Amino acid sequence: MCGIIGFTGKRDVKEILLHALETLEYRGYDSAGIAVKQQKSGKTEIFKCAGRVRELRALCDRSEISSECGIGHTRWATHGGVVNRNAHPHQVGKVTVVHNGIIENYKELIAYYKLESGLDSETDSEVAAALLNHFYEGDPVAAIRKAVTTLRGTFALVILFDDQPDTIYSVRNVSPIVATISEEGAILASDVTALCQFTNRYFVVPEYHILTMKPDSIRLENLKGECVEPEYLTVDWELNSSEKNGYPFYMEKEIMEQPDAILKTIDKRIVDGMPDFASDGVPDDLFTGCERICIVACGTAMHAGLILQSLVKRVLNMHIDVELASEFMYSDPVIDEKTLVIAVSQSGETIDTLEALKYARRHGAKGLAIINVKGSSIARESDYVLYTEAGPEIAVASTKAYTTQLAVMYLIVARMAYLKGIYSREQTGAFIAELRRVPEAMREVLAKRDEIHRIAGRVIEAKDLFMIGRGLDYSILMEGSLKLKEVSYIHSEAYASGELKHGPIALITQDTPVVAVVTQKKIRQKEISNIREVRSRGASVILFEKAELADEVSAEFAPCMLPDMQDEFMVMPASVALQLLAYYVSCDKGFDVDKPRNLAKVVTVE
Ligand code: F6R
Repeated sequence: MCGIIGFTGKRDVKEILLHALETLEYRGYDSAGIAVKQQKSGKTEIFKCAGRVRELRALCDRSEISSECGIGHTRWATHGGVVNRNAHPHQVGKVTVVHNGIIENYKELIAYYKLESGLDSETDSEVAAALLNHFYEGDPVAAIRKAVTTLRGTFALVILFDDQPDTIYSVRNVSPIVATISEEGAILASDVTALCQFTNRYFVVPEYHILTMKPDSIRLENLKGECVEPEYLTVDWELNSSEKNGYPFYMEKEIMEQPDAILKTIDKRIVDGMPDFASDGVPDDLFTGCERICIVACGTAMHAGLILQSLVKRVLNMHIDVELASEFMYSDPVIDEKTLVIAVSQSGETIDTLEALKYARRHGAKGLAIINVKGSSIARESDYVLYTEAGPEIAVASTKAYTTQLAVMYLIVARMAYLKGIYSREQTGAFIAELRRVPEAMREVLAKRDEIHRIAGRVIEAKDLFMIGRGLDYSILMEGSLKLKEVSYIHSEAYASGELKHGPIALITQDTPVVAVVTQKKIRQKEISNIREVRSRGASVILFEKAELADEVSAEFAPCMLPDMQDEFMVMPASVALQLLAYYVSCDKGFDVDKPRNLAKVVTVE
């Protein structure tokens, strides 16, 4: 949460900072601010306001800014309300700071070092500035060293010292910072999307290392003062892949990109028609040696885990748990060295998932991460990583990350089934051939977007809505329901349709919208009966059904037909339909689809 940027070099910094903050705004959009070293006066000047980056831009446009060195921040509020004075950067004495994370001992620090008089905001972050100022006696690195050893909590700090021209300092614990240097200057940011405009080579600043950036050099050192070589990574995202490319919202663009993202994710892992993780360095004994699997993830990524759970049970007949990462450590999980823990995360920075993975590995489990962002914290914490090839996902509501996570999971199931002798080579090949058909099936759903847009019109006025299904259909509806509620603010609940009559059916009244998905042959009859039960209580039923299952019974509900795939694979095309539904409801309600209220894309607080 919170987006950070810093640049020092040979270009006007104002536009670099503002553009990067626009790119990073999905990390938080409660307030925005920049601090620049003004060329004329040499002073560090701050421009900040509650609200979006566009308001900060307007403020900057009204001001005189001439600078080639500065830092910036977009905030997701934790400590203190959404008001100007809580916006970053914070300045105390000679020190100006932007911060991502939570300083847990800020109250103790204020009392112990008597920092109160220098503080103006309600934030924990300003305390970091005050502490650095307290320790600063002309040597920035010495001050940072002292400060970080007293701070408790998570932090990515980016710091300007008044009397250090053109120089930016940074240090972090848990919260991410990536950096790079190009011909134009040195740049750092919370995530790589903001660096793509300069270069595709970057490094992750290691925890408790101090980064010193000057226009033509960077120095990385540990807390003992020893110089450390940065480990560069390459991101193969197009330089413009974090732009909207003509779509009104990133969410639509990202929904549309799914067929290509799936292909990119699976193609490199299919060798001679067989699933193969050799190029990822994932050994087969990781799968053959484990006795149970435990998935840890949050939100949409956890919903992807539910699909893997169904597949593993169905195909591999194996024990598998899916745990909400935030609950994991506190639920006395059964973990040992025969457990394979799979951490699933788009950002690779979700702190609950990271902590759950660390906990599991401390208890002997092997860790495999399914991650979209290369070099992210969870990727580095894990024994093995399978990267999804979704490219940058900017809309807060996850779409292509989810379906590419699913694609990786299908590959895992196929590989495991083959290794365990459950599938022959032919059966494995047939499973993979069906997986390869997914992009085409998704395209068929995308081609129906006008029809789905019309369907969205039926729920736009709803206050409450239910989504019902069984088995895999229920799992995807949990994700569809999350998608709808987060972007449209309609209260939506996914229910296993067989459970309705044990309570929730009491909430169905005349015209309550009920979205049903029917894609699984063996439970279709029961699903249809459940749909009839709600309809006879007045519900307005919206049915998405696999075309080949539809008959005169379902014709009563005028279903939106989903393309035919084998039942296990219907998850992916059906998910696209539900994503489009949520998207159009949000659009037609006139909301900022990409930035739903109260949310942030990267959740780095517990
Ligand atoms: C919902 C959504 C969130 C994330 C969750 C985990 O659309 O995006 O529920 O899935 O915050 O994030 P990652 O995948 O980055 O760990």
